[in-house]
Amino acid sequence: MKAVELKNGIFWVGAIDWAVRDFHGYVTQRGTTYNNYLIMDNEITLLDTVKYDFADITIKNIRSVVEPSKIKHIVINHIENDHATGLDKIMALTPDATIYISEKGKKGLERFFDISKWNMKVVKTGDTLNIGKRTLLFLETPMLHWPDSMMTYIKEDNVLISQDAFGQHIASAVRFDDEFVTCQSMAELDDAVVDYYANILMPFGQLIKTKIAEIQKMGLKIDMIAPDHGIIWRSNPNKVLQMYLDMANGRTNLSISIIYDTMWHSTEHMTLPLMEGIKDEGVVCKVIKLRSTPMSDAIKEFWHSRGCLIGSPTLNNLMYPTVAEFLYHLRGLKPKNRIAAAFGSYGWGGGAVKEAYEEFKRMGLEIFEPGLQVLYRASSEDEEKCYEFGREFAKKTKEYHKKFE
Ligand code: FEO
Repeated sequence: MKAVELKNGIFWVGAIDWAVRDFHGYVTQRGTTYNNYLIMDNEITLLDTVKYDFADITIKNIRSVVEPSKIKHIVINHIENDHATGLDKIMALTPDATIYISEKGKKGLERFFDISKWNMKVVKTGDTLNIGKRTLLFLETPMLHWPDSMMTYIKEDNVLISQDAFGQHIASAVRFDDEFVTCQSMAELDDAVVDYYANILMPFGQLIKTKIAEIQKMGLKIDMIAPDHGIIWRSNPNKVLQMYLDMANGRTNLSISIIYDTMWHSTEHMTLPLMEGIKDEGVVCKVIKLRSTPMSDAIKEFWHSRGCLIGSPTLNNLMYPTVAEFLYHLRGLKPKNRIAAAFGSYGWGGGAVKEAYEEFKRMGLEIFEPGLQVLYRASSEDEEKCYEFGREFAKKTKEYHKKFE
């Protein structure tokens, strides 16, 4: 690999991770990239580093443009391991460079490295750094998605280095959105954006709205959004901004996901008449078995749909463990603007459906009650009840969806 020029004098010098499939528990079927950027100006500046294992690759890419020892400034927009653990290898090549970082970033970075030997400068929103023909403007974005997170705006080029925000876990031979949609597809790019948002940024919708409004109020013209993962938005950066605003405002598809697990196929058996009932109300339905689906894919499907039916057999008076794990994971993501109901089979005491509703209530989801339970195995009458339950849930979902149109 070598550097790729974004705009005159601004280069991508990151690394492609084709192989990663487990990104701290998040399944990354498409791999990912660790993007960082080099600005060739009077004072050469590097924006972010990469994961430690890929530090030699970014150094090689930097070297395809300039000797790393010439770098004068390094901006660290985010200290998470995938972006900052390559820092000491780079600092070893340019030890007198100054690091620009948020206050919380500095506090965090000293837990990873001995920073006493480095020149550090804490920056906050509105601070600028002139590097010659260009001025960098720093924008703190705390909790998008770590306390230290910030973005850097290159004023003269209207380029926003957006860190994790607006990124996607995609490893590709191409760097830009217009290239990606030509060789793959816009639908795949959209899917990767939603996947990333659902699994990482779902809890921060309100903050996203506030931050986008702040950027708009500052009157920053944005021609390009360059995130630290995946594809760079150069043909239509407004598209991803709008996607984020839509998701933060609760917009999603009028569809229902049935997310379930099963022991002896009894709960699974219920999904078919449920699905038929939903479809007969004219609502799109997708069925996802948890033991056959990565957790992060199930989270994405939940987020893609206005309504969710959770199915679980009862095991020892509780939910089936994979269902409990899914809901526990979901609760941490603080989902909003979704309606849920539960169903499942049981043998003697029951309990899974009740437990599921308790989780829905903890999350503050809109609830459709009561849930539906079937003893051992659905009879023809039970199947009819499932069908009607699916229809009623779809009706309720359609009604609820109107709030967001
Ligand atoms: Fe891509 Fe929060 O790290």
